[in-house]
Amino acid sequence: MYAQRIQRVAPFRVVELLERAKELESQGRRVVHLEVGEPDFPTAAPIVAAAHRGLDAGATKYTQAMGIPALRERIARYYADTAGVRVAPDRVVVTAGASAGLLLLSALLLDPGDELLLTDPGYPCNEVFVWLVNGVPVRIPLRPENGFQISTAEVLAAWGERTRGLLLASPANPTGASVPGPVLTALANEIRPRGGALILDEIYQGLTYGGGGDYRTGLELADDAYVLNSFSKYFGMTGWRLGWMVLPERAVEPVARLAQNLFISPPSLSQQAALAAFEPDAMAIHEERRQAFERRMARLCAGLEALGFQIPLRPSGAFYIYADIAHTGMGAVEFCRRLLEEYYVAATPGADFGVADCERYVRFAFTTSEDAIALALDRIAEALRAWGGSCG
Ligand SMILES: Cc1ncc(COP(=O)(O)O)c(C=O)c1O
Repeated sequence: MYAQRIQRVAPFRVVELLERAKELESQGRRVVHLEVGEPDFPTAAPIVAAAHRGLDAGATKYTQAMGIPALRERIARYYADTAGVRVAPDRVVVTAGASAGLLLLSALLLDPGDELLLTDPGYPCNEVFVWLVNGVPVRIPLRPENGFQISTAEVLAAWGERTRGLLLASPANPTGASVPGPVLTALANEIRPRGGALILDEIYQGLTYGGGGDYRTGLELADDAYVLNSFSKYFGMTGWRLGWMVLPERAVEPVARLAQNLFISPPSLSQQAALAAFEPDAMAIHEERRQAFERRMARLCAGLEALGFQIPLRPSGAFYIYADIAHTGMGAVEFCRRLLEEYYVAATPGADFGVADCERYVRFAFTTSEDAIALALDRIAEALRAWGGSCG
C-alpha cells in the first residue's frame, strides 16, 4: 500500500490535455496550444553558449548545495541593478527550479498539522508541497470583482492558531494579477507580529505589462519576506531546472542543511548557463520577448472579449488570461474538452487551479505566436457559432 497523501495528488489536467493534443497532432491535426505554461521561445543564444563553455570546462560535478558563489553574487547584483535592493549573496539560495524552493520552504516552516494560507485560484502544486510535509493548505477564495486580489481582512479572517504563513504569487498564475504595493506592505505588517512567514513567488517577475506595477520585487517593501524566483519563465529556461530564493538571514543555515540532504546540489551546467542570463545581450532578448508577450496579450484579450468572454482582470504580468466563460452556458471542463476535440484549440479549465467557481473560468496562455492566437480565435468563434443552439 502507498501513503494516503498520494490519493490527494490530482493529476494536472493540463498535462492530460497536452497528451491528448499530442495524440491529435500525431493524427495530422494542427492544434493551437493555449494551455502551455512555458515560453514558446528557445533559451536565448548567449545562455546556450555559456552552457557550451561550461561543459567544455568540465561543469559536470556537484556544486555547493546553495549554488556556486558566482551565481549567488550575480543574482544579488540583479536585485541591486533592477530594484535598487541590497541583498547579501549569502541570503541567495540556488535551487532546482522554484519547485525545489517551494518544497524547501514547506519543510522549513511547517510541522505536521501546521497551516499555510494559499490563494484559490493559484498554482496547483503549492498544495502538494504542503501535504508532503503533512501540513494543511488553507485556500482563500479570490473574487473577480476584486480583480482576483487578496485583502488583509481575508488573510486575517483565515489566520488561525496553526497558521505559519501566507504564500502569494505576484504576478500570479492563473490570473495575471500583481499584488499592489500598499497591500503587500499591509500584509507584511500583519504577518510579522504574528511570527508568520510571507512567502512571495516572483517567478513571473520581469514578465510584466503596462509599466509593471509599483515595485520590482517584494523585497523593496518587506525585506523579511521569503522570496522565490526561477530562471524558467522570464529567462526562458524551463528545462534547465534552475531557480533561486532570497531568504531572511536566520533561515539560510537550516535551509542549507535541508538542501544538502534533499538535493546535494542544483544542476551544475545550468548554473554555468544562468551566469549569462543577466548580461546585457541576454537581457535585450528577454525584453524583446516580454514585448512580444505584451502584444499577444492585447490581441488575445481583445479577441476573447469580442467573442463575449468576460476578463475580470487584464493581466499585469505572467502569460495567462483567466476568462469567464459563463456566456457559453457550459462548464469549463466540458468547454475545454469540446474545444480540443472538435476545434483543436487547447486551453486549461479552472479546476486545475482551485475549487472556487472553477467551472466558470478557463485559463488561456499566450505562449504561442500571434498568428496561432488569431487562428485560435477564429476557431473559438466558429465553435461558439456551432454550439449556439446547445449553449447560452
Ligand atoms: C506560480 C508558479 N510557481 C512555481 C512554478 C514552478 O516553476 P519552476 O519549478 O519551473 O521554477 C510555476 C510553474 O508553472 C508557477 O506557475
